[in-house]
Amino acid sequence: MDTRIIERINELKKEKNAVILAHYYCPGEVQALADYVGDSFYLAKTAKETDADIIVFAGVRFMGESAKILNPDKKVLMPDMKADCPMAHMATTEQIAKIREEYPGVAVVCYVNSTAELKCASDVCVTSANAARISGALPNKYIYFIPDQNLGRHIAKTATDKEFIFNDGYCPIHNDLREDELLQTVSEHPEAVVCSHPETRECILRHSDFIGSTSAIIDYVTRSDKKEFIICTEIGIEYELSKNNPGKKFYFAGGRCVCADMKLNTPEAILDVLENENNEVILSGGILQKALVPLERMLELGR
Ligand code: 13P
Ligand code: SF4
Repeated sequence: MDTRIIERINELKKEKNAVILAHYYCPGEVQALADYVGDSFYLAKTAKETDADIIVFAGVRFMGESAKILNPDKKVLMPDMKADCPMAHMATTEQIAKIREEYPGVAVVCYVNSTAELKCASDVCVTSANAARISGALPNKYIYFIPDQNLGRHIAKTATDKEFIFNDGYCPIHNDLREDELLQTVSEHPEAVVCSHPETRECILRHSDFIGSTSAIIDYVTRSDKKEFIICTEIGIEYELSKNNPGKKFYFAGGRCVCADMKLNTPEAILDVLENENNEVILSGGILQKALVPLERMLELGR
């Protein structure tokens, strides 16, 4: 990578008191230059705690929005405004209102991979790292889980005293992973441990030795004394996995789990927003106020 880009990014960060947050699905060179790299929960917590004036969020739109909601007085910049998560739009406020009418006392549990508008209509946010714990701790009998049906169905298996109502959203990247592809990879590497993200479908999860968020997968692999792993999640995680585990081998089932939106975050795009302070996340005062409630509840319950 062009070292001049990195040098200029570092100069601007100092000059403007800016911080760069990046998700594990970003390109490796972006993870290498970021100040903080992590899963969705860690990044939301970090965004809340930072004392920087500018947050550059290398991720997708809902992540930038959450950072802004948690820091309304700070400038949150997205390296590329087109980086959006399709799943974030796979529920509607009309559906939520209908379910609230049908199931009085229902808790609307909203995966952070959702628009700010959906968060406003929800009771609590969750990430894949805390969805089971938070849903299980709620006093409500009925839980409407939006937008990801795969994560919802996975956590419903543990919260057996609850009745779940599912939505039909999904991550197009994880949902595409097929059972036959995984079984083919397993037959090629019979000694490998299968680690999967809960956004994959049940046909993948049932063959998995470990299921968890991106950082939970990284922790599990790093602590394991096994040498080979089949990873069922987005390919960007390979950067941190390989960095922390030089002697271990990683195979990606299907070989095509790539989130094109996350890959829009490039060093050049980061430099551009730092220079020009463009691509700012702007939300109305009403949205900022309403969406803060379920996000703060998550940070509180997820502690
Ligand atoms: P986590 O990093 O929280 O596991 O999230 C996965 C994801 O799809 C983010 O878009
Ligand atoms: Fe959205 Fe899936 Fe990309 Fe994550 S990997 S940002 S859930 S499309």
